[in-house]
Amino acid sequence: MRKKIIAGNWKMNLNPEEAMCILERSKMFPAESLPNTEIMFAVPALYAMMAENSLRETPHSVLVQDVSFQDDGAFTGEISVNMVKASGLQGALVAHSERREYHNENNISAGKKIKKLLDVDLVAVYCIGEKLESRKNKEEKQIVKTQLTEALSGFEVRNFDRLVIAYEPVWAIGTGEVATVEQISEMHHFIREELSKLFGAENAEKIRILYGGSMKPENALEIIQIQDVDGGLIGGASLKFDDFKSIILSSI
Ligand code: 13P
Repeated sequence: MRKKIIAGNWKMNLNPEEAMCILERSKMFPAESLPNTEIMFAVPALYAMMAENSLRETPHSVLVQDVSFQDDGAFTGEISVNMVKASGLQGALVAHSERREYHNENNISAGKKIKKLLDVDLVAVYCIGEKLESRKNKEEKQIVKTQLTEALSGFEVRNFDRLVIAYEPVWAIGTGEVATVEQISEMHHFIREELSKLFGAENAEKIRILYGGSMKPENALEIIQIQDVDGGLIGGASLKFDDFKSIILSSI
């Protein structure tokens, strides 16, 4: 059975004290309280070591929000996969829609990052999802299929537990607008089918597929119960621990 993942993506939010407060409060969930759920925090790079120090004795994971596909060298402002690994962090988000929109991220660069992360046994949370215009033109499946195949074809995955897909329809991110149960169900099923074509059915069954886009305490339970939804990638509602806690509790 796939363990659920509840991951907070803090984006560029929270001061150090607010961040620390959330991390400390998350310790109310020791391993035995969450037999079937993993908690992850995708934090600003500057807070990653603080988060790692705070959560070292817990089962919760710390991720960075992006990583370079270069090994090392003159790449000002970047972080390498080896730095993430050596710092004791568990992985990275890859190709969040905001990286695609503002930082030229594409499926090919995303694929290189995912390969690097998986090669050193880190978690890669690969973010995909269509924009509103594509949804209106009924092109959402084609977009998602291309995002999956262009990034994930052409390399071997050893550990499918560490490859995580986050389906985040761009029109539902930070807008308060949530995809309907039918839309989520249909897309997650489609994603699993495409993963099955890429990696075989048995391996595709091991990959967690998260939903992201205005997930909050009021809708979390309904979304998490959908077949092929293995948890959530949560932006706004991960910035208030009480909201994040409710979402975690919905996953139990
Ligand atoms: P919101 O939960 O704020 O819509 O953000 C979703 C998201 O982008 C998570 O990566």
